[in-house]
Amino acid sequence: MHISIIGTGYVGLVTGACFADMGHTVTCIDIDKDKIDYLQNGHIPIYEPGLQEVVQRNSAEKRLFFTTSYEETIPNADALFFALPTPSKENGECDVSYVLDTAKRVAPLLNGYTVLVMKSTVPVGTGKKVREIVSHVAQGADFDIVSNPEFLKEGSALEDCLKPDRIVIGVETARSQELMQKLYSGFTLNHNRILFMDIASAEITKYAANAMLATRISFMNELSHLCEEVGADITKVRTGIGSDQRIGYDFLYAGPGFGGSCFPKDLRALLHTASVKNVPLDVARATLSANEKQKRSIASKIITHCAQDGGIKGKRITVWGASFKPNTDDIRESPSLEIIQALVEAGATVALYDPVVSEKQLVNEPFFEHISCEADQYAACENADALLLATEWKQFRFPNFSRIKKALRKHVIFDVRNQYDPHELAHLGFTYYSVGRPTPPKQLLETLLKETHAVK
Ligand SMILES: NC(=O)c1ccc[n+]([C@@H]2O[C@H](COP(=O)([O-])OP(=O)(O)OC[C@H]3O[C@@H](n4cnc5c(N)ncnc54)[C@H](O)[C@@H]3O)[C@@H](O)[C@H]2O)c1
Repeated sequence: MHISIIGTGYVGLVTGACFADMGHTVTCIDIDKDKIDYLQNGHIPIYEPGLQEVVQRNSAEKRLFFTTSYEETIPNADALFFALPTPSKENGECDVSYVLDTAKRVAPLLNGYTVLVMKSTVPVGTGKKVREIVSHVAQGADFDIVSNPEFLKEGSALEDCLKPDRIVIGVETARSQELMQKLYSGFTLNHNRILFMDIASAEITKYAANAMLATRISFMNELSHLCEEVGADITKVRTGIGSDQRIGYDFLYAGPGFGGSCFPKDLRALLHTASVKNVPLDVARATLSANEKQKRSIASKIITHCAQDGGIKGKRITVWGASFKPNTDDIRESPSLEIIQALVEAGATVALYDPVVSEKQLVNEPFFEHISCEADQYAACENADALLLATEWKQFRFPNFSRIKKALRKHVIFDVRNQYDPHELAHLGFTYYSVGRPTPPKQLLETLLKETHAVK
């Protein structure tokens, strides 16, 4: 089948590469000429493990193409995937203008039966609007609208796309259902993972999934504050509740709050849709506001600590990790950057190290003048007053603590991903803060140390 993907970003590129890998002929379109040139020359504009190999292989085997031209591509397509941005407007509403404008642009180019697939995350009712636009612009065009929201996770996008838990497809006609079934047949050989439903339900499903996952995170983040107050350990609470099969272990990590290009924006959009319809959605609202508080609370912890030592003004803080999570270079709404912004506003300077995020990606950040981007995680610690572990890249899991200690001016670590053992860090002589875990009382530490020596 011939597939066109409009929008060659994280979702479009991965989707295009995976469909090509399943034997379809795919053309990815983008308005960004530099990006298309780069892809045509065999390079990948994003960091996504394994993607380069799949893109290069399918390009070499002439199943995957890149272009800026709608005219050359759209008329040949059996299915046209919209993988366009759907950012937040200032009032939280989802901006669907990229999708609607593109519908206007592609309508006159449709040639024969074509399925227009909404892969972008769009508010309920968008599919209907696209249908109206296309019918209006290209009267008599033979097409169907399909909603096929994407559930891939950056960092494991290829695996998620090739072996999805489920493929949600909202359809209006048997003809489009048949085409989608055929299109995805390569992904469902092991067992059928396609859930067909109506378009409105498919559109809502995407928002509901993200809101549910975000709610679990905010719940744990709020609980982490209670744990700190009562001397309990949130990581133990997580395993305690996660072992209940009804709950499960995933998305129960306390940390700096959720970020990325989806959860915050999708929650805002869901709340906007709900408010238009006069439906309160109190839980989703609380999830979002707890998340904002969580991000602020991390910055305040650092600022409060520095207050005991002359204040945060002029302090140098090392930050490990800029992306919103490991294994991606995506910095959209990254908690790390929001914490950096708060620290800089309070008067600190920041030495930042991230394994893949480049300095170029940060030039438009308001704090850019107040940070230095370091090429090495230990060099970033030189003469700093504290180290903040913001994103849990694997290489930060077992660092050389004596190098860190040598480099830091003050031996303070803020670990907002709960990667390290509080006892070990205290033993090594660090003042150690984590999220929702008690710092070991001095007395207990002394006993532990004595016991360790006794065993030796
Ligand atoms: N990133 C994710 O993890 C993820 C996961 C699930 C769903 N989604 C949803 O998928 C959609 C796309 O997200 P993304 O992260 O891939 O965005 P992105 O910003 O990485 O990519 C969008 C691409 O569209 C291109 N573009 C913009 N206008 C265009 C036009 N008129 N014609 C052709 N190309 C155009 C941009 O240049 C960009 O390359 C969004 O709705 C998002 O909410 C994203």
